[in-house]
Amino acid sequence: MSIASTDSTVSPRHTKAPSRLHVVRPSTAPAGTATVPRTVADGLPVPTLGGTVDYANFDHAASTPALVSVKAAVDAALRTYSSVHRGNGFASKVTSAWYEEARAEVGSFVGVRAADTVIFTRNTTDSFNLLARALPRDTTVFVFETEHHSTLLPWGASRTVSLPVPASIEQALDDLTAALQQASTCNRLVVVAGASNVTGELWPLEEIVRIARRHGARVAIDAAQLAPHRPIDIETTGVDYVAFSGHKLYAPFGAGVLAGRADWLDAADPYLRGGGATVRVTATPATPATWTTGAARHEGGSPNVIGAIALAAACAAFSANHSAIEAHEESLLARLRHGLAAVPGIDTWSIFGETHDRVAVVAFTIERLDSSLVSAILSAEHGIGVRDGKFCAHILVDELLEDPWGEVPATAVRISIGLSNTAEHVDRLLGALVELAAHGPQRQYVRTEQGWLPAGDTRELSLPRPW
Ligand SMILES: Cc1ncc(COP(=O)(O)O)c(C=O)c1O
Repeated sequence: MSIASTDSTVSPRHTKAPSRLHVVRPSTAPAGTATVPRTVADGLPVPTLGGTVDYANFDHAASTPALVSVKAAVDAALRTYSSVHRGNGFASKVTSAWYEEARAEVGSFVGVRAADTVIFTRNTTDSFNLLARALPRDTTVFVFETEHHSTLLPWGASRTVSLPVPASIEQALDDLTAALQQASTCNRLVVVAGASNVTGELWPLEEIVRIARRHGARVAIDAAQLAPHRPIDIETTGVDYVAFSGHKLYAPFGAGVLAGRADWLDAADPYLRGGGATVRVTATPATPATWTTGAARHEGGSPNVIGAIALAAACAAFSANHSAIEAHEESLLARLRHGLAAVPGIDTWSIFGETHDRVAVVAFTIERLDSSLVSAILSAEHGIGVRDGKFCAHILVDELLEDPWGEVPATAVRISIGLSNTAEHVDRLLGALVELAAHGPQRQYVRTEQGWLPAGDTRELSLPRPW
């Protein structure tokens, strides 16, 4: 697999104009009033070897800090926190109503159809494991090997057709078409990411839905990396299912979503058997429980109501401010990519080519430098947070980075821009990378069980417990 190098003599692997993956729904904010929502971590001071600096968090693709508005919603919800659909007291009534309103807000965020189900899960991984359990028995699942492990693995090897990492959009669509033509089962599901968690590149959802429909297949979108950057519209794009995680959308950990067609979900065994998922339970051994339909069928047990409210607050902030969020991120991404392209020795990595439409995620390597050493230096010397490794997408990264320099691991550094970033953060990162690419590490670092650490580091790297 070739790379899309920042060296301008290397041509992109794909020249077709990139297609958008979604239909943009009108922002709910009146024109010109959309703003970039603030996070609770903006301006976080962090210790570096040279003193305290404002944290430049470029690891939003892993998890995002909570929005200020999300924290306010959680604070308010904690005051009346009570049981959901299990009590007649005032607080229970309020909490139950907010839980269902949160479901409606999240559904509207992804443009659900009237008959769709919106199920609260723990995260994207949980959503796809739930969908995998709900598939009719004779279903074949088609999934590209580019996917995050949470999207690649839940379906089980025996009913999965894995499609190779494509060299172009055209090849991806051709491979999908050929695989669907050969399928013999009546139920088929295509699972694809909205945006790659490694390269940020967007998948051509509209074309994929068109091909799937032609071959009687449904489409499930892994929107974990798309939802924090671009609008999603299930109804207009015609996808069947969407999954995403709250902790990547500026809400806390613990709440995710599976939204989409109700029929398979209503016919499936409950994902979590227990209270709340039943209509009636009797002592009859053969049929002890009659299960309800709709979201409750798969949400057994007391639900994560605070997580659902937090996620709904994040969705509301995004629905109201999409245009400002996209403008903010696109300007920082352009600044970053322009800067990286000018640094000799740095390669950025791409599936479909450097000009392909993407969200604000960039994977790169510095010639002959271990990516985990690069991320350690960025943190210790510059107060910059990035992720290094294979990003739970081993097949894709192995293919992209196929044995680049032998002596260093075939891993990359990922920069993921988000709402808490500023132009100063991007300039600080670029300045650090220019130095590193030109001169290598200027201090001594030692490899330990915790990874690379600066020799003689005396910084206090813990904080008092928050409880
Ligand atoms: C594209 C993609 N899909 C799925 C996941 C899994 O998300 P979670 O860990 O929230 O279940 C991730 C997480 O990084 C991701 O980036």
